[in-house]
Amino acid sequence: MKTALITGASSGIGKELAYCFAKDGIHLVLSARSNETLTEIAQDIQSKFGVKVSVFVADLTAHNQAHNIWQYCQDNQISIQYLINNAGFGDTGLFENTDMIKNERMIQLNITALTELCRLFIPNMKAAGFGKILNVASTAAFQPGPTMAVYFATKSYVLSFSEAINNELNGTGVSVTALCPGPTETKFAEAAGFKSDGIFDSKKKFPSAKEVAEFGYKALQKGKSVAIHGTINYIQANASRFFPRNWVVKITRFMMG
Ligand SMILES: NC(=O)c1ccc[n+]([C@@H]2O[C@H](COP(=O)([O-])OP(=O)(O)OC[C@H]3O[C@@H](n4cnc5c(N)ncnc54)[C@H](OP(=O)(O)O)[C@@H]3O)[C@@H](O)[C@H]2O)c1
Repeated sequence: MKTALITGASSGIGKELAYCFAKDGIHLVLSARSNETLTEIAQDIQSKFGVKVSVFVADLTAHNQAHNIWQYCQDNQISIQYLINNAGFGDTGLFENTDMIKNERMIQLNITALTELCRLFIPNMKAAGFGKILNVASTAAFQPGPTMAVYFATKSYVLSFSEAINNELNGTGVSVTALCPGPTETKFAEAAGFKSDGIFDSKKKFPSAKEVAEFGYKALQKGKSVAIHGTINYIQANASRFFPRNWVVKITRFMMG
């Protein structure tokens, strides 16, 4: 029986991904900081789908926590076939005004913890000849993002890193998928400090976390390298390659509002 480890499983896309795996009879290790919420989700999934669900509470902005999750799986003989690096957050504002401690935490969570979890889990997946990794990037990965400079750069890293290691793992039975959602209805915008205009305009209707999770889950199971959610997002992400970079940055700044 297979097991999926999901970071950021207490809300939004990560929570919905947990239900996608459980529906297919895949056991789960769910991680995030919110113990109570994770435990409620674990109980709900166990009672509805009868799969085993373990909870590992961790703040992945702390340096040793990615290793601790891996150690927990080793100690409890939980073999991971699906690794879902979903936990992440953003922050808005001019870079010069940003809080450097928050920037460091964002880089630690969005980049370092994701990289470390891949490094720790890939060897066993490769030895077993099977493994699927989903790294949640963003459409922010495709261009620089004025007023969200650090966040966009972290997601460019996730996309570039995922494509590179997916290529390295070709033929091993292990695949790495970079999921690139556009704006999605979750707690992300509020946590990042978005106002109700600009990209997260409150009058607009955004895809639900469930829709994005189901799309990402299918792409993961197919072993796709990059999965951009939504036709308009797909066109926008790819269009940026055909314009001069200084135009792309200006257009992005305008769209950020
Ligand atoms: N929503 C969007 O518009 C959008 C668009 C593109 C990409 N994304 C990406 O999608 C991913 C999921 O975000 P979401 O939209 O589903 O947002 P969300 O509802 O805010 O969920 C974020 C998840 O990450 C966890 N998390 C946050 N800080 C953490 C930390 N320090 N340590 C461990 N876990 C932490 C949260 O759990 P706790 O608070 O319990 O720790 C939560 O489970 C992120 O990587 C985000 O960058 C989102």
